[in-house]
Amino acid sequence: MDTLSLIKQPIETELGDFIELFNHALDHEDGLLQTVLNHIKQRAGKRMRPILILLVAKNFGQVSSVTQHAAVGLELLHTASLVHDDVVDEAAERRGQASVNADYDNKVAVLVGDYVLSTALLHVSYTHSEIIVRRLAELGRTLSDGEILQLANIQSKKVTEEVYYKIIERKTAALFEACAAIGAESSGATEEEVEAARLFGKNLGIVFQIRDDIFDYYDSEAEIGKPTGNDLAEGKLTLPIIYALNSTENEEMNALARKVKAHDVTREEIEKLVAFAKDNGGIEYAERRMWDFHAEAQSFIDTYVKDESVRTSLQTYLDYVIKRNK
Ligand code: IPE
Ligand code: IPE
Ligand code: MG
Ligand code: MG
Repeated sequence: MDTLSLIKQPIETELGDFIELFNHALDHEDGLLQTVLNHIKQRAGKRMRPILILLVAKNFGQVSSVTQHAAVGLELLHTASLVHDDVVDEAAERRGQASVNADYDNKVAVLVGDYVLSTALLHVSYTHSEIIVRRLAELGRTLSDGEILQLANIQSKKVTEEVYYKIIERKTAALFEACAAIGAESSGATEEEVEAARLFGKNLGIVFQIRDDIFDYYDSEAEIGKPTGNDLAEGKLTLPIIYALNSTENEEMNALARKVKAHDVTREEIEKLVAFAKDNGGIEYAERRMWDFHAEAQSFIDTYVKDESVRTSLQTYLDYVIKRNK
C-alpha cells in the first residue's frame, strides 16, 4: 500500500464524508464563479490538514459533525490562502495545473479567494462552537500576519534564522497547529490533551515548511506540481541559504542575496546561490533542524496516542512530512 493510503486507513469513511462536504461547499450554479470553483476542485491537494484533524479527533474520541464542519472550514481557508498566495508570489502553477491568477487574472483570483475565505467562515459557524470559530478567525489573522512579515522582510537587509522561524510558524505551522487542536477539541479531549495536540501540529507544520523550502533547491517540478528555484526568484531566502550565508560571511554571495531581495537577480545568479547553499552544508543543516522538530512532535505520539491503528497512521504521517517528495 502506498504511504498516503496507509495514513488514511483508520479514517477512510470519515475522509470520504469530508470530501463530499468539501466539494459541496464549493458548488455554485452558474457564471464565472462556477467555472473558477470547478477549476479549483478539479485538482485536490494532498489534504494533509483535514487528514490531521480527523486522525487527532479519532485519537481522542469520535469524528463528529463538529469535526467535519471544522475540517471543511480549515481546508477552505487553506485553499483561499493558496489562491491569494499565488497572486502575491506571481506563481503560474499550483497543484500541477495553472494557478487561478495565471488561467484567469489577478482580479478574478482575489475575488474568488475572498469568496472561498468567506465560505470557510460560514462552515465553521456550522460547528456552533464559539471556541472553534475564534480559533479559525485568529488563524486567518496569523496566516496573513506571516505572509506580510515575509513580504516586509524581503525589504530588510539581513535575514536571520530567527525571523525565518517566525515567518514559517505564522504562514504555515499555525494551520497545522489549529487542525490538531481543533481535532482534539471536537472529540472531547481534556485541556492538557488539546494543548499537547496543538504543539504536535506546530512542530509538524514547521517540518512541513522546511521540507517545502528544501524542495526549491532541486529540480522536481514534475513531482511537486509547482515551479522550482522560485523562492529565490520571488525574493525569499529560506533556511539552506540563510545558514550558508551566515556561516561563511562570503561577500560575493551576500551581494547576490541582496540582489535576490531587490528582485534584481538573474537565473545564473540564482543557480550560483543554490550551488553555494548546497556546497556549504545548507541542505544538511536544514535537514538536521527538521529532525529536531520531528523529535518534538514524536513525543506527542509516544505519550498521547494509544490506539494501535491511529498510532501507526500518525507515525506514518509524521514520517511522511519529513521524507515526502511532493
Ligand atoms: C502548500 O501546502 C502550502 C505550504 C504550506 C507550502 P500543501 O503542499 O499541503 O498544498 P496542497 O493542499 O497539497 O496543494
Ligand atoms: C505557503 O507559502 C504558505 C501560505 C500561507 C500559502 P509559500 O509561498 O512559501 O508556498 P508555496 O510554495 O507557494 O506553496
Ligand atoms: Mg507561494
Ligand atoms: Mg508565498
